[in-house]
Amino acid sequence: MTKHRIIYDTDPGIDDAIALVFQARHPQIELVGITSVFGNADIDTTTTNALYLASRFAPGVPVVRGAAAPLRRPPPGPIPHVHGKDALGDIERIGRVDKHEDGRDAHRFIVETVRAHPGEITLLAVGPLTNLALALKEDPAIAALVREVVVMGGAFGINGVLGNATPAAEANMHGDPDAADIVLGAPWKVSIVGLDVTHQTVMTTAFLASLRDSAGDAGRFVWDVSRFYERFHAGDGMSKGIYAHDYSAAAFVVARELYTTRSGPVRVLTEGIAAGLTIQKPDSVRASAPDWDARPSCAACIGVDSDAVLDLFARTLRN
Ligand code: RIB
Ligand code: CA
Repeated sequence: MTKHRIIYDTDPGIDDAIALVFQARHPQIELVGITSVFGNADIDTTTTNALYLASRFAPGVPVVRGAAAPLRRPPPGPIPHVHGKDALGDIERIGRVDKHEDGRDAHRFIVETVRAHPGEITLLAVGPLTNLALALKEDPAIAALVREVVVMGGAFGINGVLGNATPAAEANMHGDPDAADIVLGAPWKVSIVGLDVTHQTVMTTAFLASLRDSAGDAGRFVWDVSRFYERFHAGDGMSKGIYAHDYSAAAFVVARELYTTRSGPVRVLTEGIAAGLTIQKPDSVRASAPDWDARPSCAACIGVDSDAVLDLFARTLRN
């Protein structure tokens, strides 16, 4: 089977790091680049973290610095209570960082890589969508050349949840709603892996401890880095474990059969108290809705076989 060639657009971030370890170890994934973006921390921090993660788990994969701020808002403030002061759970870092940033801007790297490999590149985006929007602005024709865009973000209220950054907005959509509305409306194939399924996919303490004891360096790292995130989730009312947000989007790339999707165009609110809210008009709805009807359909995940998704993670790390 041909490999999935992925540009991983990320704001590491604890769950971003966990998803990177999975990609680095999965035999059907070829990481062709890691592009950083602000989000879980400022761009200096997320880029430093991307360099660290690539040095440790994905040597040879270029790391490219991306956007420091949303398209038309100031950069958000830090959120050390979620991912730690260093945004990687404040763990002791093992090993040397032996990588330097690729000199290009992330959006330029995306354009050049997509053009060099037409029809082959999957953009796996698990932070604010600013880099992808900038790439589209620079070269709109890349939309026809990308294999697929898979986004961790948004929520459609399937299980009663619309947001985690606010009551109405998931964090990545809230981080840059203007970019999100552009990216989800562009003429490329988009799949959305949002809170509707990531909240159903919980890595429990027991699951993480089992990986710590059975999956070598990768398993120990996932355990270490998830300690801070688990304390944050506990404070948020969850009993023992973490949501597998960004990993779920990586799992979708290689195992979409584990997800149920709903097709339809999606808008992202860009203003007001619900900025970042994602609203889909399912294709089954016939009534006219001009603000949606001119846009291509996206596949939004509305169901998941979470046991199988977690089993995929464990098997991949143990191999
Ligand atoms: O809402 C979850 C998302 O927000 C994840 O991508 C997490 O890393 C944060 O960026
Ligand atoms: Ca993220």
